[in-house]
Amino acid sequence: MKYPQPPARSATPSAQELVHNDGRPVPAVFELESPQFLGDEDIPFERYTSEAFYELEMERMWTCTWQWACREEHIPEPGDFYVYEIGRHSVLIVRGNDSRIRGFVNSCLHRGTKFRSGGSDGGFDEIRCPFHGWTWDLDGGLKRVPYDWDAPHVSQRDFSLPRVSLECWGGFVFVNLDPDAPPLSAYMAPMPEHMENFDLAGRFVELHIEKELHCNWKAAKEAFIENYHTQETHPQLLYGSDDEGTQYDVFNDHVSRFFCAFGVSSPSIDPPPTEQELVDMMLVGDRSVLGDTVIVGEGESARIVMARVLRAQLGEKYQVDLSRFTDTEMIDVSQYSLFPNMLLFPQLSLPMVYRFRPLGDAADRTLFELLILRPAPEGGPRPPAARPVRLTERESFTTVAGFDPVLGEVYDQDTGNLRAQQEGFLAARKPGETLLNYQEVRVRLLHQTLDRYLRASEPAL
Ligand code: FES
Ligand SMILES: [Fe+2]
Repeated sequence: MKYPQPPARSATPSAQELVHNDGRPVPAVFELESPQFLGDEDIPFERYTSEAFYELEMERMWTCTWQWACREEHIPEPGDFYVYEIGRHSVLIVRGNDSRIRGFVNSCLHRGTKFRSGGSDGGFDEIRCPFHGWTWDLDGGLKRVPYDWDAPHVSQRDFSLPRVSLECWGGFVFVNLDPDAPPLSAYMAPMPEHMENFDLAGRFVELHIEKELHCNWKAAKEAFIENYHTQETHPQLLYGSDDEGTQYDVFNDHVSRFFCAFGVSSPSIDPPPTEQELVDMMLVGDRSVLGDTVIVGEGESARIVMARVLRAQLGEKYQVDLSRFTDTEMIDVSQYSLFPNMLLFPQLSLPMVYRFRPLGDAADRTLFELLILRPAPEGGPRPPAARPVRLTERESFTTVAGFDPVLGEVYDQDTGNLRAQQEGFLAARKPGETLLNYQEVRVRLLHQTLDRYLRASEPAL
């Protein structure tokens, strides 16, 4: 159901107004706005706690949605494999001798054994089950059954490995357990068009963090798709980013965005910092990238200065030419959500991708992954994908080598709320959560899209 009226907006300057004061014209995709009012009913807490609801998601949603499984640089050579798992479902992703990437159900056609365990990767020249040695070619054709005189009923024709749908975009390998899935391009529009200028295929995984959380996967994702929590959870960020002016766009059931201007302060900071103070505060972060002394010139804004500094210094560090990027592309944060569990930040200052999945196969545990995708050197060899660093629920992001400790503190603040929220779902006497109309519309969208999948009368598999 669509509602006719747009939601109320803050009277403070919007992200649109702020970026239009920049030194370079704003790209068309950042001039777009798509505010929507999707209703104001409470969302039942049991959607986060009920085993029956989790089972429905596992049966009807995770089996027929596109999910990014790995990056192409995780499996660069023929024979390389990667295992992507979502709850009990498991996909073996293999690069064939023809360099094509294929996805197979990760379960042996003899007695069901997984070929490789969840989260593992590596290389082989054939797909061989570790139990009795049934073996398939890299393209999934049956190759060998030991003592096949005893298996006349096992024909090569009928025993190819079952395929899952697989497509690549922007250097990401996406899988969909539904063999008849709609094309990825239709599913994720308009994201590819919005990201044309960013060359995501030309990035590499500089850092990969996995964090275990005590909460439902939706609660974990929802903690990152609104900026409303910044005033209470991250007060230190109010000095360099505009929380209240953040723009929330609903493009369709699968794709939404927030767009937050950096290099300005929150309207809640009074008196506002000077432009020089803003630059000084932003440089508190990764000085190895940003350098120490930056002076704001006469008539310049902190945004323009920061964009210029980042363009030069990130360009030098990663050996790429960033001159084509506008100020907003360099310093602001736009975050795209692709249903169900991908969040992608294409812009250059925080070039990240997140993924949220049930940890193991439980309604109240989540594995949150954060990957930093930096531009690979132009003309140079692509650096290998960083190995994941695993953090338990209690371990701090600030302990991860190579991760800016200022950012680490922000993620500790975010994830620190989630056990309390999950426990509060169970303690509540009110049946559900009450959402803000504009700033939390992406939370509501997630539930409404999920319902569309759960209402399907038959599971996809
Ligand atoms: S279970 Fe795989 S070969 Fe027996
Ligand atoms: Fe946050």
